[in-house]
Amino acid sequence: MGDPLQRRILVTGALGQIGIELLEALSEKFGYENIIASDIRSFDHLEINVQKYVELDVLDIEKLERVIVENEINEIYHLAAILSANGEKNPQLCWKINVNGLLNVLELAKKYKFRVFSPSSIAVFGPDAGKLALQKSPLNPSTLYGITKVTGELMAEYYHTIHGVDIRGIRYPGLISWKVLPGGGTTDYAVNIFHKAVNHEEYDCFVNEDTRLPMMYIDDAIRATLELMDAPREKLSISGGYNLPSLSFTAKELYDEIKKFIPSFKCNFIPDRRQEFADSWPDETEGKYSTEEWGYELEYDLGSLCEKMINSLMKRY
Ligand code: NAD
Ligand code: SER
Repeated sequence: MGDPLQRRILVTGALGQIGIELLEALSEKFGYENIIASDIRSFDHLEINVQKYVELDVLDIEKLERVIVENEINEIYHLAAILSANGEKNPQLCWKINVNGLLNVLELAKKYKFRVFSPSSIAVFGPDAGKLALQKSPLNPSTLYGITKVTGELMAEYYHTIHGVDIRGIRYPGLISWKVLPGGGTTDYAVNIFHKAVNHEEYDCFVNEDTRLPMMYIDDAIRATLELMDAPREKLSISGGYNLPSLSFTAKELYDEIKKFIPSFKCNFIPDRRQEFADSWPDETEGKYSTEEWGYELEYDLGSLCEKMINSLMKRY
């Protein structure tokens, strides 16, 4: 399909928290004319620069195939998904989109031989993974979302081993970004808190102050994605999902750091059902394989992440 050296990229779920940022990075790297953005939602006046947008439900395999063939796609970043909190509210939809959507992409990847990036999540881990989750810690999630992500990793390994599909994935930690609001996950509090702080409003945080989770600033996650997709395949031992080295801080530590910039900011801790999901996940992830196999290193720490979030949001509001 087309010149294999010329990337022709389709991004599914492109209007989400990661998609908006990845679109920009891919467009700058490979040329705006080579990136096709798609999502189930219609494309309104978001501040993004895309040359081609297609309204596409990843469960519609005929349309997905048409878009791939017509645009000579040779790489897909498959971001369409339902995240943890929304997934627990609607498990059937979560399974359909996260598992059947990926299956559609993989079947077409087998047929047309394009490369795939498909994110996994720290939600693959359950309580038995311990506080520091290693690449090979047990995968016994207690959320439906986590179950779909473990299934996705197994599918990736299967399609790679049995059908030769070049699929790669990262177990993203909670991602902190400012361009769009997150889409219904458990780690959303670590983004929402900044919007309230910058607007001088009080925030009711839905996890308790001691909740510690693996987190990362979006630029580190986007760079990881591009670096993984640039890595020589023969260096990679994992198709389903690489752990990354992550930051690890409590909700209270995040609040305290934000108060250094906005001392009057007030946050209340009022846990809801999402506390249970957060408690089932590790505090931190170890990224030995991503560092050894494709040289990944973190750049942002809690302080630089907060500074970037607050400065960016202050310019926007
Ligand atoms: P998001 O919810 O912000 O975006 C997902 C997008 O998918 C949305 O724009 C939504 O409209 C779209 N979508 C939903 N159903 C669809 C369908 N049937 N067809 C096409 N599009 C559909 O999610 P995100 O945070 O950008 O996450 C992207 C991927 O990264 C997901 O696989 C998610 O599990 C994973 N991930 C995200 C985080 C995080 O902190 N954001 C952490 C770990 C893993
Ligand atoms: N940030 C995601 C969530 O909370 C983790 O995959 O659902």
